[in-house]
Amino acid sequence: MTALLEVEGLTKRFGGLVAVKDVSFSVRSGEIVGLIGPNGSGKSTVMKLVMGIEKPNTGSVRIEGEEVAGWPTHRIARAGVGLVFQHSRPLHRQTVLENIMLALLPDSLLRLRAGREVVERARAIARRVGLANVLDRFPATLPFADLRRMELARAVARDPKVVLVDEPFAGLTAAEVADFSALIRTFREAGHAVLLVDHNVKGVAALVDRIFAMYLGERIAEGSAEEVMRDETVRRVYLGGEIAHASRPARATTDEAPLLEVSDVSVFYGKAQALENVSLRIRKGEFVSVVGLNGAGKTTLFNAISGLVPYQGSIAFAARRLAGRSAATIARQGLVQCPESRELFGDMTVRENLELGGQHQSPGSMAERRDWLYSLFPILREREGQAARTLSGGEQQMLAIARALMMRPQLLILDEPTLGLAPVILELLSRALETLRNTTDITVLLGEQNVTFALPHADRVYVLEHARIVWEGAPDRLAEEAGAGLL
Ligand SMILES: Nc1ncnc2c1ncn2[C@@H]1O[C@H](COP(=O)(O)OP(=O)(O)OP(=O)(O)O)[C@@H](O)[C@H]1O
Ligand SMILES: [Mg+2]
Repeated sequence: MTALLEVEGLTKRFGGLVAVKDVSFSVRSGEIVGLIGPNGSGKSTVMKLVMGIEKPNTGSVRIEGEEVAGWPTHRIARAGVGLVFQHSRPLHRQTVLENIMLALLPDSLLRLRAGREVVERARAIARRVGLANVLDRFPATLPFADLRRMELARAVARDPKVVLVDEPFAGLTAAEVADFSALIRTFREAGHAVLLVDHNVKGVAALVDRIFAMYLGERIAEGSAEEVMRDETVRRVYLGGEIAHASRPARATTDEAPLLEVSDVSVFYGKAQALENVSLRIRKGEFVSVVGLNGAGKTTLFNAISGLVPYQGSIAFAARRLAGRSAATIARQGLVQCPESRELFGDMTVRENLELGGQHQSPGSMAERRDWLYSLFPILREREGQAARTLSGGEQQMLAIARALMMRPQLLILDEPTLGLAPVILELLSRALETLRNTTDITVLLGEQNVTFALPHADRVYVLEHARIVWEGAPDRLAEEAGAGLL
């Protein structure tokens, strides 16, 4: 039987960089193939080449035997390919139902005549992906997992034979990953060919029939999930070891005033309450994790602390109340947030983004910090002159973290830093945090739903649930005392 998707000798250069190098693989009907590899190894580029969003320099892409390499995206879509992007891109002025309908009717003329039939199909797709209850809502009001569902619905709206799914699990909880996996299995059952990229290694291994592993644009391994995960090269360049619970001697704690004191903070978005009387205190030098599911209020809490959203209650940093200060002033005082949304300057290079972070330092001190950050994330040095918007998902995340560290914060807030990072990079990040803890008096506030990463890096943990702090304590007590839903 011919494969639904056949890729042969695919190569893509960006200037001097060969992002994809002579890659060949195929995906048959009813098969899910996992595509794994470290950040920047070329996975998303392969998907974009198949979809026609980027044009290959050389190589062939066949859909059911038909050569489509070099075709425009809309023709490739019509030939039966759908792509679920790494980042959700909904139309914000349209409801969920309308977003799905527009995906059903890509040709603008037809949009004017969206008949009953189209509405019914859109509803059916929404039901299939679990969006039936939010059809009339606007994307901005949806929880993260629902946004990903909508993205998936849009990609499969026209029933593509070949489904490309780029990081469906990033930012989802274990339960949501299970949901999504079930959904992706239905494509297999329907006889589609699925290509799946994700850094959630367990999630991928549980779902796929085969894995294709890349590094620096090239194939490094191929086979069953078990074989590939055991492969020497894959272990070295991608998987790394386990994140260790570093033995972390408690820092001498004193009764001195807390560095950060959040007292009875509430935040409303219109009528919706995003934070309800939240209080927490962090002493100088402490590492504190706030864990909670998507939508629990972590980002709102961090944005309130950073001066980005108005709140009731009081927030004090180094014994000074922050209310009324601008986000820029607060950052200059040493309270720096690395936001979940990254907020990089897309048209500026990696180096320029970093230099912006270091602009208040002497050139010597800045260069020293930059070197340390480049040794921490070597790929950033290699991509030094590249525009931030062209970086891979994980490279952007590394740059956002590096830029925050460039500012030599006293208090560093990391909002979901693990999002989109390969296992080896998590290990690097983990070690970097330990180094900072042991060599500086930095204080860290870490927001995560990835408890495996949050716990080893915490002296103390707060659990945020539906806008409220529901538990506080030592990380080793979380498992038995707080909700098992988090683990
Ligand atoms: N338009 C572009 N110009 C220059 N370089 C690019 C461009 N697009 C991608 N790259 C580079 O090509 C490499 C491969 O990028 P790609 O997005 O395919 O990686 P990836 O495997 O999907 O990584 P991640 O897991 O981090 O998402 C990266 O190093 C990236 O910086
Ligand atoms: Mg990618």
